[in-house]
Amino acid sequence: MDCRYLGDCGSCVLTLSYSEQKQLKIARIRELFSKFWSGEFEFFDSDESGFRSRAEFGIWHENNDISYCMRSHQNTKLPIQSCQIVDTKISNIMPELLKTIKEDMALVERLFGVEFISSAKSLIVTLLYHKDVNSIKDNLAKIQAKLKIGLIARSRGVKLEFGDVKINEILDINRREFRYIMSDTAFIQPNKKVNEKMISWAINSISDGVDLIELYCGHGNFTIPISFKFQKVLATEISKSSIDMALKNCQLNSVNNIKFARLSAAEIMSAMAKEREFERLRGVDLDSYRFSHILVDPPRAGCEDSVLDFMSNIDNIIYISCNPLTLKDNLEVLSKTHMVVKFAIFDQFVHTNHIECGVILKKLS
Ligand SMILES: C[S@@+](CC[C@H](N)C(=O)[O-])C[C@H]1O[C@@H](n2cnc3c(N)ncnc32)[C@H](O)[C@@H]1O
Repeated sequence: MDCRYLGDCGSCVLTLSYSEQKQLKIARIRELFSKFWSGEFEFFDSDESGFRSRAEFGIWHENNDISYCMRSHQNTKLPIQSCQIVDTKISNIMPELLKTIKEDMALVERLFGVEFISSAKSLIVTLLYHKDVNSIKDNLAKIQAKLKIGLIARSRGVKLEFGDVKINEILDINRREFRYIMSDTAFIQPNKKVNEKMISWAINSISDGVDLIELYCGHGNFTIPISFKFQKVLATEISKSSIDMALKNCQLNSVNNIKFARLSAAEIMSAMAKEREFERLRGVDLDSYRFSHILVDPPRAGCEDSVLDFMSNIDNIIYISCNPLTLKDNLEVLSKTHMVVKFAIFDQFVHTNHIECGVILKKLS
């Protein structure tokens, strides 16, 4: 990647060529998981630049002027003028947005961060302020009208929205289009093309099943395209805004075999164990499910003990992980009842040490 900040910027820390990065990541994963998998690691690569559809920058103030900034390797602030890894919609708006903000000192003062979320049908910009954004409401409305973006402004306890701030995404999964709306405050996979490869891989790696249970389902990113392989799906997630979006995404894609419920992983586990009843599961007959598969895509901490316990009784496991270390810990437990039959690496986070993995496990007979 031809970026002038490479080597200084703390975001892209791998300065190797892409093929060397790929070899390095495969070697690390092969070594870490040698106890569980000696077969081939499928590697799903990414574009080397322009791949991030979600990005956050700090704002650097100097002599009444502002620029974007990142954390440097030395953990200092590094002013930047551009970023090579963000997608075209974001890289195009970045200079224009800054220029427009600089024309109005009220917008410059106490601005400390900018977030961008781009999708097939939208570009949402969030400005973060250390002052009440109500005091600059009209100024914000003017820049939204000029730039024709979805604009959000936030300050402590206040959120203002200007224009259409819905995030509308279209994903191509195995040459079929899926439509999603998402919340700006909830989890969104940052690399669209690799996300498409990840979902397609999960679908293509399993045979048709009976019923699926999915924990940590977000806005239905995997749930909706994979639901076609099952009779019924039960999908849970802790975030209310994600579940609200998941319900809308079912309608958008005319899917009607999924029940979404806002429950933490611990809560759905205690409901399944009949330790607790939840109003949020009203109308869901847990006894009617015959789960042949479980799909988990947990946060970096991995799956908790009660989830691992539950997984040990399900024939087929699809485990997507953004943290190889907790994946390894969890496989230590799961390998007592299951064997790994497929292992993939998804290069969501090019130029960084982060590695996303996908593992398919089957119950030992
Ligand atoms: C890595 S994201 C995956 C989301 C989704 N699978 C996707 O692809 O967009 C992990 C998700 O777990 C949710 N989460 C975090 N802690 C949780 C918990 N204790 N119980 C259930 N969900 C949780 C987060 O809100 C987030 O949506």
